Amino acid sequence: MVEISAHEGDITQAAVDAIVVNLFDGVKSPGGGTGAVDKALDGAISSLITDGEITGKNAEITLIHTFGKLPAKRVVVLGLGKRDKFDAHVVRSLSAILARYLRRIGAKHAATIAHGAGIGGLNAATAAQSTAEGTLLGLYTFSQYQTKKGDDDDQHERELESLTIFEQEPQRVGTLNEGIDRGRLLAESVLIARSLVNEPANVVNPVKMAERAQEVVKGTELSIDVLGREDMLEHGMGAMLAVTAGSANEPKLIVIEHKGDPEHPANNIAIVGKGITFDSGGISLKSAGSMWEMKGDMAGGASVIGAMHAIGQLKPKINVFGVIPAVENMPSGTAQRPGDIIRAMNGKSIEVDNTDAEGRLVLADAICYIKQVYEAKRVVDIATLTGAIVVALGHVASGVMGTSQKMVDAVLAASKATGEKMWQLPMFSEYKRQIRSDYADVKNTGGRPAGSITAAFFISEFTDGTEWAHLDIAGTFMADRIRGHEVKGATGVPTRTLIELVEQLARAE
Ligand code: BES
Ligand code: MN
Ligand code: ZN
Repeated sequence: MVEISAHEGDITQAAVDAIVVNLFDGVKSPGGGTGAVDKALDGAISSLITDGEITGKNAEITLIHTFGKLPAKRVVVLGLGKRDKFDAHVVRSLSAILARYLRRIGAKHAATIAHGAGIGGLNAATAAQSTAEGTLLGLYTFSQYQTKKGDDDDQHERELESLTIFEQEPQRVGTLNEGIDRGRLLAESVLIARSLVNEPANVVNPVKMAERAQEVVKGTELSIDVLGREDMLEHGMGAMLAVTAGSANEPKLIVIEHKGDPEHPANNIAIVGKGITFDSGGISLKSAGSMWEMKGDMAGGASVIGAMHAIGQLKPKINVFGVIPAVENMPSGTAQRPGDIIRAMNGKSIEVDNTDAEGRLVLADAICYIKQVYEAKRVVDIATLTGAIVVALGHVASGVMGTSQKMVDAVLAASKATGEKMWQLPMFSEYKRQIRSDYADVKNTGGRPAGSITAAFFISEFTDGTEWAHLDIAGTFMADRIRGHEVKGATGVPTRTLIELVEQLARAE
């Protein structure tokens, strides 16, 4: 992993493979670090600006060779775009693009100025945090199964080994390093989630999810409890047992606990992530087309494990339960059938209209459990729940729903802070009739219209007594191309937002 740190000194003197300076769109005579480097290059940067080759537009990258004028061989001028569009999210995105560029040109050691901490108006810690996040997230690859490596962005032999932020003012170096440390922790957490999602389902099964959770807990003050099939039988978790019935892989219900406010047990929140390690659809089998993507149907659970990693280090003053019902959904002679009537832990009977609507079933029992045994007062569930959310919001935003507007607003506020886009869908009571059953208390599907909302209504049958919000990430858990800090494959969404949410709630108490 690339080493990132802040260092006191003059960037023009950095003896590295490449020095990175920046420029806002439309700036004609650069100041700060960019100005100093320009001067050392006898005005090369400003003359390229005059020529119109450097404009400063967003993500513009210009490579200048120094030919002995500086200890560094190369200078990279990074365009920051328009100043009124500039924020921490731009820094994160540009840092990712820059890091991949440095890797591509074979720079092993690079030095940079803190993007946006000068005239950009960001505070130094935020600028450094976003730089660290973007660099680490943007360089991430999942290539351990590939023996041959190429040199494009996906497959590469080259590595960026270090990125050093140079800072002239000694008292700011500490602040920058604090920002970097926070950014590194958040990125690490996202990468835990990404790797779990990218791993195939023959590797990441429920047992492996539980092992990964154990690893995150190890050496921290977090604690963990993992329930198996017998415990589920004892607790009457008929919904989770019905989903696992067709699978040879043992189900696990994972609970990771952060006791951040032991004097106030009611000051708590449960983050419950769908952990379907493979969703074949069950007897209501999916078509072959992109069934492979369902290896990532545990992305909600993966984001919870990632978030708990950060929460274990940040230790916010709030009790947090990270809950992952980890189950595989497979067809077989022992699988549940459409038409089956099952009973969840809270006693409600469910008509299984479609075995492919399995996420809401495992979430139902997980939520009942965390409410009954841990007395969860606030619940946010995160799930790759419906194809309908992809129709509604595409691959840009996750859907947010809930019966507590306060909780929904808290999630949206956290989303705004992290840049992981989210949008609320309404839970108008008129939709509820779609999940009425002729045979049981509730049916697990509501037909095609408003499929994401009826799915949320199904979950809400199991959330009473809590402040509840629900996140549908079926459109955002995977990316089909590189874009800023996101690379092709798992995005790790919404790990950063969950961490932010927990911290905001801890501060609000
Ligand atoms: N895991 C899927 C939803 C999904 C679809 C996630 C696409 C990621 C990408 C979920 O279990 C599912 O199959 N949902 C069904 C529900 C339907 C049967 C009511 C769907 O959306 O089609
Ligand atoms: Mn399904
Ligand atoms: Zn699913």
